[in-house]
Amino acid sequence: MARVVLAITGASGTRYGRRLLQVLSSLPVTVDLVVSAGARLVLSSEEGIDPGSPADPGRLVADLGGLGEGAITVHDPADVSSPIASGSPLVDAMVILPCSMATLGAVASGAGHNLVHRAADVTMKEGRPLLVCPREAPLSPIHLRNMLRLSEAGVCVLPCAPPFSHRPTTLDGLVDGLVMRVCDRLGFRTELVPRWDG
Ligand SMILES: Cc1cc2nc3c(=O)[nH]c(=O)nc-3n(C[C@H](O)[C@H](O)[C@H](O)COP(=O)(O)O)c2cc1C
Repeated sequence: MARVVLAITGASGTRYGRRLLQVLSSLPVTVDLVVSAGARLVLSSEEGIDPGSPADPGRLVADLGGLGEGAITVHDPADVSSPIASGSPLVDAMVILPCSMATLGAVASGAGHNLVHRAADVTMKEGRPLLVCPREAPLSPIHLRNMLRLSEAGVCVLPCAPPFSHRPTTLDGLVDGLVMRVCDRLGFRTELVPRWDG
């Protein structure tokens, strides 16, 4: 059973993170979920979701309709004594989807002060796969430098720029195009949308 840390932070597009949580919960994967304070604001604004208390985003997990709920552990973003703040637990990968510029900067500088930053720092120091999925437009030189810095450190920077090659006709189809790419990078085979075959 693979173990993945999923952080949802306060960039536009928390819907991507919700969908990834849903997809992972249908796979043989245990998920450590962290929803940042910023993400709670965006979930409320964009999705009309009150994700619940920081330590228990019950609505978010309940949205999965019972799918694989037992395999999801929710962590308080302020709790830097959580197991995933240490390299000791055997975690296979971490993904930050969506990743705000604030979180991007904190991870790129190593100046983290919450559990998302710390777990990302640990993932890098342990040499485990880290995917960050930034969302901002336009991008400042500082954003771009932070992305380059992470890329040079071996982090996969996979922007929230969904493909159109599968001709999505719904918002869910658009979201799935990106989420499938994230799953590909995590090493999980899904067929959420048709793959380009020339
Ligand atoms: C509705 C809403 C949308 C936002 N969209 C973005 C965004 O697309 N990208 C971004 O970097 N920050 C965005 N922000 C700002 C971040 O939420 C803010 O910088 C926050 O401090 C990020 O903290 P976090 O990374 O710990 O979640 C948005 C904020 C709100 C309330």
